[in-house]
Amino acid sequence: MKPKVYITRKIPNEIVSKIEAVCEVRMWQEEEKPVPREVLEKEIADVDGLFCLLTESIDQALLDRAHALKVISNMAVGYNNIDVEAAKKRGIRVTNTPGVLTETTADLTFALLMSTARRLVESTEYLRSGKWETWSPLQLAGQDIYGATLGIIGMGRIGEALARRAKGFNMNILYYNRSRKPVVEKELGLQYTEMDELLQEADFVCIMTPYTPETNNLIGERELSLMKNTSILINTARGGIVNEDALYHALKNGVIWAAGLDVFEKEPVPLDHPLLTLPNVVTLPHIGSASIKTRMKMAELAAENLLAAIRNETPKHLVV
Ligand code: DGY
Repeated sequence: MKPKVYITRKIPNEIVSKIEAVCEVRMWQEEEKPVPREVLEKEIADVDGLFCLLTESIDQALLDRAHALKVISNMAVGYNNIDVEAAKKRGIRVTNTPGVLTETTADLTFALLMSTARRLVESTEYLRSGKWETWSPLQLAGQDIYGATLGIIGMGRIGEALARRAKGFNMNILYYNRSRKPVVEKELGLQYTEMDELLQEADFVCIMTPYTPETNNLIGERELSLMKNTSILINTARGGIVNEDALYHALKNGVIWAAGLDVFEKEPVPLDHPLLTLPNVVTLPHIGSASIKTRMKMAELAAENLLAAIRNETPKHLVV
């Protein structure tokens, strides 16, 4: 009898076929709608493998319903949607997809930084709504990027890739990380600082750290108040790292100049969220890794991890 797998979203046929060569596959058939919790609760009962996305909360209550589960393969690098400890206790392996999305996510982070600094979204709306009557000296004037100071919080793979991009813009790069990275510091000419100093010095603060209980609300009212009133905050990591209430007030009251957000505490962000009313915020629907090639590589890697665990081999990217 083939092992059973449940896939929580419609993924490309060629990836499904690879899994089907070894397993009996059931799949949620929607592309744009997440699997309802009650369906997942039912589907998880008898499967050996779960292929899931960051939209699914894989918690203890769900795992209690899984009677044969060997592996949870998350098609994402972040795995804060999974109760990893609960999985470990039950002997269930958890895998993720690091590496393949590094450059694509760094591209998006830099694009968001540039469009926030130079007010691209606001400028497009300005033109389309017929407000463009003349050229004037301070019309839609933004902040310079070339030669500015970039502060990166979290120097993992994506932080490094972002620093490489910033080098091309002659930026002065500060970073804060739980541990220092002397090799990367030397190679990319980075300067390690404590977090408060980074917040005080940087013109751009980019959040690139994983979301954990320690980084929950890492950036709140106090941290925002340390930033310059010309500074820009960019978050392409996870929404919960920034206190959105504090961010709203900081942006509204000119404590900081602007923010670029690809992630939110609650996703999709509710349309009546106060942050969406501000002109100095660029908002994206969590598209950091969204290039066609990268999303394909993520799906392939998630499938490889899943199949390795099902065959009792060691998956390439094992979280636990
Ligand atoms: C991840 O992989 O964790 C991103 O947020 C989505 O690609």
